[in-house]
Amino acid sequence: MQLGRRPLLAVLALAALSSCKKNQGNSSASGSSSAAPSSGEIVVGHYASLTGSTAHFGQDTDKAVRLLIQEVNKAGGINGRAIKLVTLDTRGDSAEAANAVSRLIDVEKAVAIIGEVASSLSLAGGRVAQRRKVPMVSPSSTNPKVTEVGDYIFRVCFLDPFQGKVMAVFARNNLKLDKVAILKDVKNDYSIGLADAFRAAFTAAGGNIALEQSYSQGDTDFSAQLTAIKGSQAQAIFVPGYYSEVGAIARTAQRLGLKIPMLGGDGWDAPDLLKIAGDALNGSYFSNHFAPDVASPKAQKFVADFKAQYGDEPSGLGALGYDAAGVLVDALRRAGTAGPALRDALAQTRDFDGVSGKISIDAGRNAQKSAVVIKIENGKQKFEANVSP
Ligand code: PHE
Repeated sequence: MQLGRRPLLAVLALAALSSCKKNQGNSSASGSSSAAPSSGEIVVGHYASLTGSTAHFGQDTDKAVRLLIQEVNKAGGINGRAIKLVTLDTRGDSAEAANAVSRLIDVEKAVAIIGEVASSLSLAGGRVAQRRKVPMVSPSSTNPKVTEVGDYIFRVCFLDPFQGKVMAVFARNNLKLDKVAILKDVKNDYSIGLADAFRAAFTAAGGNIALEQSYSQGDTDFSAQLTAIKGSQAQAIFVPGYYSEVGAIARTAQRLGLKIPMLGGDGWDAPDLLKIAGDALNGSYFSNHFAPDVASPKAQKFVADFKAQYGDEPSGLGALGYDAAGVLVDALRRAGTAGPALRDALAQTRDFDGVSGKISIDAGRNAQKSAVVIKIENGKQKFEANVSP
């Protein structure tokens, strides 16, 4: 159980793929969701970054989705039918994400899709699911455009206009900051959207943006941008990026003698952040969906079960993956597997009792949730504040 978690996931996905190929004989070849059989296993697809610079996103989510489905199957499945989860790796790439969703629907005959984490990838995959009229639930994509793709696309997390405001108000009211610089990833829809949200809320609250700089996902040298920020008198830097680059940015800032705190969003949520950054992020803050140190009894049970099964603690991604699968199972129970009926049942989700909080799907197919602010202290994450919409 301890060894080779990454190969294990890849093997599971491959095994699922080949066994599914054998099972295809009894469904018609039309390629639409109505081809799904009405007895036997129910196939649910998950597309996720199991490898690449956002591997933690996909791995943590997939472990949690698997845990939920394993529990459902143990308890008798959905009206006696077991769920078969097929996970395909996106490698953190938009084109791979679109391919994965096509394959999950056309080859694997998935009746519903869970994924992706990254908003840019959910936009790419969501367009495919929408075209095929197969419901998709993103656990954790926060960019507003994701569910605007169409009426088959749902999410179980809050949105970036809220998350950006949480950090802007926290920076103004709690940290008493007047001037903040922004360093965003211009290749990432999430990063651009969250920078916009933070800027709007911070200036509306009377703050000033000292300077705005950018980078592109995969960059490794951030010294020019950070040198410019150092000369800008900024009291903090808002960095709405993903953990691999944010960790490297923090290390570079430390090397350049830039001693101001960094602020960020949920994209920081990975143990690798602090492995890469070392002690460079002590005194920094980010907003997130879930804090294991202040979990509800239901969430504590999830954290304990996850730890027992995998040996490590879930992050916010795990909590949302577990809830995305839970909301989907709940809708499958009420509506069965036909696309339009399942879509309607997802839209009617109200007060679902999730480990990441109560989930009600609104008219925009989004969930309204509260956020937590996490402080990084002595190389550890510590719950700092809870913010409701
Ligand atoms: N919210 C991010 C996005 O939309 C993804 C993410 C969610 C990353 C939760 C980490 C934790 O791209």
